[in-house]
Amino acid sequence: MVDYNSILRNEERAIYLLRDLYNRYGYKQIKTSKFEAYELYGRNKDFLTSDEVMTFTDSKGKLKALKPDVTLSIVKNTEDNPGEVQKFCYNDYVYRLSKKTGNFKEIMQTGVEAIGDIGSSDVCEIIVLAAKSLELVADDYALDISHMGILRGVSKALNLPEDAEESVLECIANKNTHGIANICKEYGVSEKLIKQVEALVQAHGPIDEVLSKLEKQDLNEVVSEAVEELKEIDEALKSIGVGGKIRFDFSVVNDMGYYNGVVFQGFVNGLASGILSGGRYDNLMAKMGKRSGGIGFGVYVDKIANMIEPEQDNNGEKQIVNIALPKGRLGEKIYDMFESAGYECPEIKEESRKLIFENLEKGVRYFWVKPSDVAIYVERGSADIGVAGKDIILESEPNVYELLNLKRGKCRMMVAGKKDWVDDTDKTLRVATKFPNIASQYYNSKSRDIDIVKLNGSIEIAPILGLTDVIVDIVETGNTLKANNLEAKEEIENISARLISNKASFKFKTKEIEAIKSSLNKVGEKID
Ligand code: PRP
Repeated sequence: MVDYNSILRNEERAIYLLRDLYNRYGYKQIKTSKFEAYELYGRNKDFLTSDEVMTFTDSKGKLKALKPDVTLSIVKNTEDNPGEVQKFCYNDYVYRLSKKTGNFKEIMQTGVEAIGDIGSSDVCEIIVLAAKSLELVADDYALDISHMGILRGVSKALNLPEDAEESVLECIANKNTHGIANICKEYGVSEKLIKQVEALVQAHGPIDEVLSKLEKQDLNEVVSEAVEELKEIDEALKSIGVGGKIRFDFSVVNDMGYYNGVVFQGFVNGLASGILSGGRYDNLMAKMGKRSGGIGFGVYVDKIANMIEPEQDNNGEKQIVNIALPKGRLGEKIYDMFESAGYECPEIKEESRKLIFENLEKGVRYFWVKPSDVAIYVERGSADIGVAGKDIILESEPNVYELLNLKRGKCRMMVAGKKDWVDDTDKTLRVATKFPNIASQYYNSKSRDIDIVKLNGSIEIAPILGLTDVIVDIVETGNTLKANNLEAKEEIENISARLISNKASFKFKTKEIEAIKSSLNKVGEKID
């Protein structure tokens, strides 16, 4: 008898176990074509995780695309069937651009879709299946759930212009309360409302506990309706003995144009990023000309290949939090904050070339890393939390939570040039910078055509030697500009150090990370 367990890799085994699970719940396995007409994706860009789709022209001259998503194909091919719910499951390759490498990747995705007259029992079944899918991958998992109605209600209450609303949604997804407060203040949102939204963003935990807090907020009827629906779902989940590991988290944000009801994200301990994502997408159905509703999720089974054994509990005591600190002057100030917050590690101050220090009693392990690398360590989960400048966060856009503005290392991202320089809008503007992403986003927003010269330091020399017209760089004291006869022309962003967290670590070391955050917050307030 062949021992399949010893032959199959973990991710392969997961595919079969998941297929078996979905079949047992009556989901019919379907296979969709590898290609679709590009139009399908061109019309639904916001539904996709990336704008980039791999295209080619077929023999008849039609623009085709390699499928970046399975749901759109299933929805397109499913007829409305009033009064019925059609249930499908799949495992298929999708082709997506990796932001990190700039190359297209073939990704195996497994998932389920329920399409038709979706009732609350269908919603519950999908959530139960999501939880069971995670359980098949790892014992220690977390399924975070939210409701697009709450998000819609918050947007309605804030009533911001589209750009600002988008930025707020991004901040919500990153638990960035200080970012939300800044944007809202700029648009004259009342202090009371800002406080309410901040409380919402920080809301996470057992569904019933969070919902009772949300109810008290009484933001508007859109939020109340969503809370009601979530309450019903929570009751139903409890009655079938599922709950516990399904928690409310307001940072689960999907696109409002496509998703309407519950949305959720799944994590397993041992993987640095989410492995499951889904939600209710009646809006997508309507956009595709269907009258039915839809709900489903995808599991990124490929990721299982990179799963690591999670760190053991510290003898049942609190878990060790791995912290990446930026090496250098700012790092020392930041470590001092951690020390004042009660997370000291005296050895760190001794003269040595050592890079890793720990105080197991306090439950912390510090790493000194290059400031620009902090976000990489945190995003990839080698560090649970870290401290990075807002400049680095804006430039590399890591998939992390931005938990706290530490208000240290304050400076400004600016456009600077020679004193007599005047912008000639007839010409492409030549910009020297260490921050090409920040520079191109800034000039894109002004519809200004630019040519970026990416440099690694001593940026101020570029306009002096005529290499570029201006620079986009950090200005702290302004001394470097002054000494080189340059002057600041425009301000792009205020910069300071931020406490960031790996998203999965935040799920599995919540108590410890929240405690560090709140102690650091107190230290920050004291010094201010
Ligand atoms: C940064 C920045 C400016 C300077 C601004 O450079 O790129 O050059 O500091 O500070 P100031 O306003 O207080 O003069 P950094 O010291 O990191 O060196 P680099 O040019 O080698 O990147």
